[in-house]
Amino acid sequence: TYVVTENCIACKYMDCVEVCPVDCFYEGENTLVIHPDECIDCGVCEPECPADAIRPDTEPEMDKWVEFNRKYAERWPVIVAQGTPPENAAEMDGVPDKLTTLFS
Ligand code: SF4
Ligand code: F3S
Repeated sequence: TYVVTENCIACKYMDCVEVCPVDCFYEGENTLVIHPDECIDCGVCEPECPADAIRPDTEPEMDKWVEFNRKYAERWPVIVAQGTPPENAAEMDGVPDKLTTLFS
C-alpha cells in the first residue's frame, strides 16, 4: 500500500485525490489518509503530491503511518474530488513535527 505521511498535515493539496483510480482517500480537517486495504498499489498518486507526502509502505519506518492511515480511513469520509488547499499550504511545506503540533 501507499500511505500519506506527516508533511501532508496543513498542506493538504489534494492533487492525489484526482488521480486515484479506486477513490481510497479519506478526508480529515487538515490532512488526508489512504485506506491501506483499498489501495491497489498503482503508485500514480506518489509523484502528484506537491508536498512529497505519499510513500510506499516498503520504505523504512512506515509501520506507524500504515496504522495512522488505517485508523483515520475508518473514521473519516471518503473524498473523491479535489477541494481548495489551505492558503498557506506552501509555507507549511516542510515544517517539522506537524503530527504533534498541527494535526487536527
Ligand atoms: Fe490510489 Fe494508487 Fe495512490 Fe493507492 S497508490 S492511493 S490506488 S492512486
Ligand atoms: Fe496531502 Fe499531498 Fe494529497 S499534501 S492531500 S498527500 S496531494
